[in-house]
Amino acid sequence: MSEHSSSNDHEPKLFETIHTLRAMRRLKPDPVPPELLKKVLAAGVCAPSGQNTQPWAFVVLRSAETKLFFGTRYLSAMRKAFGDRLRLSADDLSANARTLRAAYHLAEHMHEAPLILLVCGRRDWPFAVPAEKRVGKAPPSYGSVYPCVQNILLACRGLGLAASLTTLHQLFDDELCAQLEIPAEYGIVSAIPIGYPAGKFGPVSRQDPVSVTYFDRWGAL
Ligand SMILES: Cc1cc2nc3c(=O)[nH]c(=O)nc-3n(C[C@H](O)[C@H](O)[C@H](O)COP(=O)(O)O)c2cc1C
Repeated sequence: MSEHSSSNDHEPKLFETIHTLRAMRRLKPDPVPPELLKKVLAAGVCAPSGQNTQPWAFVVLRSAETKLFFGTRYLSAMRKAFGDRLRLSADDLSANARTLRAAYHLAEHMHEAPLILLVCGRRDWPFAVPAEKRVGKAPPSYGSVYPCVQNILLACRGLGLAASLTTLHQLFDDELCAQLEIPAEYGIVSAIPIGYPAGKFGPVSRQDPVSVTYFDRWGAL
């Protein structure tokens, strides 16, 4: 057999984790052991970043008071962005309606999540923004922080924890940063509620990569 075997005998767990990773928004109230949180964060910081700057920082919301502060504002943001949940018919079984129902469930129960992990990024201008256009606050290094976020999601899945990536905090970002005393050089990239999964989660539904892949030129198969 060749040295570079195409068999995935050596890494079935990795691929199983990747292929079953999805937004798991229904959580049990059971606490997440601190050693599991450590493993999750250790996976996060393994991520690559531009020039290895490792521009991430984490704020873990774990007190009832802080989670309630976050949760009440998150639910208001959800209503502002998507309207009233009551308009969502329970008979609508489309993928979109299911996602929205699950997202509302999360928003209504956000404060009950055992942990809400805020992944922050040091602010830095992307190369493409010329010096004269660098006005106001730079964005929080999204490109470098998202690999860390993905590692965190994969680690949660691998450890049997449920997690989901959320970004609606953007609608109350200033208030949140002030409340948590996040320094001006950092911004919040994602808020990830983490706990043990409640109920069953269906299979992942994604496009076939062949349908979005071209060779040498866009559109060429
Ligand atoms: C950049 C980004 C932002 C997202 N923001 C939210 C969010 O604010 N709230 C939420 O419930 N899910 C959010 N999601 C999760 C997506 O809705 C979810 O990944 C997508 O619907 C696929 O769902 P599935 O993994 O269950 O198949 C976000 C995902 C990404 C990648």
